[in-house]
Amino acid sequence: MFTPVKTGDGSSTFYSAVFGEWFHSREGAHHEAQQTYVETTRLAQRSQQQPADSPLKILDVCYGLGYNTAAALETIWQANDRCHVEIKALEIDIEVGRSAIAHQLTQRYEPAVQQILNDLAKTCTAERDPLTAHILLGDARQQIQPLVEQGWQADVIFLDPFSPPHCPQLWTVEFLQLVAQCLCPEGGQLVTYSCAAAVRSALKLAGLSIGSIPAGGRKWPGTLASYSSGGSSALSQQEQEHLQTRAAVPYRDPTLQSTTEEILVRRTQEQARSPLPPAGSWRQRWAAASR
Ligand SMILES: C[S@@+](CC[C@H](N)C(=O)[O-])C[C@H]1O[C@@H](n2cnc3c(N)ncnc32)[C@H](O)[C@@H]1O
Repeated sequence: MFTPVKTGDGSSTFYSAVFGEWFHSREGAHHEAQQTYVETTRLAQRSQQQPADSPLKILDVCYGLGYNTAAALETIWQANDRCHVEIKALEIDIEVGRSAIAHQLTQRYEPAVQQILNDLAKTCTAERDPLTAHILLGDARQQIQPLVEQGWQADVIFLDPFSPPHCPQLWTVEFLQLVAQCLCPEGGQLVTYSCAAAVRSALKLAGLSIGSIPAGGRKWPGTLASYSSGGSSALSQQEQEHLQTRAAVPYRDPTLQSTTEEILVRRTQEQARSPLPPAGSWRQRWAAASR
């Protein structure tokens, strides 16, 4: 069982002793779900434009307490209560979602959305007109593979693992290539709170164009990625130069089964061999420029 801790907007989050990190921004867990994930991907507008005979599809990578899924559903149905929605969520630990419900952390959502989160936590499935949702329980690196094989593609992908140093396995070139294959080439958008150069370079290696977004409540911007440019601000000069440093050497996991340690060591070795300059000089240059 996880212990709830209040964040800046009054909503609660958990701390993961396994990953050594909070599940959300301490500035505001609900605010982060709403601003970073739901608003940037324009779910309200998407729900109004969605053809009646095809569902709006969402891939929620790292379901956790279910806040991103809940905020998405609430926003979609406030804008169009008949919008069909299909959600596939990846999560390794169903106890997170169950703890959120046991601690009544989902009670601020509308009753229909609360019921969906309850069903998902209980059975990993929620079927309720106009929604079908499934949590694919297990390591996301394996659970995503059937989706790729089926050619299943989402209009919107939420990419919300713990940070790269704590959970590098979900930020590798190989995993993000699978995630990118699940993104609809026409109008699909992937959003994450991370602006790490290693994450951005991996998204680019997966064939995506990337842009910057204000990340709700966090100090740094987030990243919006898609197969076509547009829909987000272009990277600033500072962000572009970051991608020309060793910080942009991506995480790699050729077998999709490496441990955290193996992935971190592999990257450190690749950075040591890299002809790119270390990120330190980039950091000093931009710190001096902002003085
Ligand atoms: C930052 S939290 C996600 C918060 C969530 N999006 C929310 O709205 O509450 C990261 C989640 O990733 C899950 N996780 C960690 N490693 C995983 C893996 N290999 N595969 C799938 N899920 C994983 C954790 O159990 C945790 O729930």
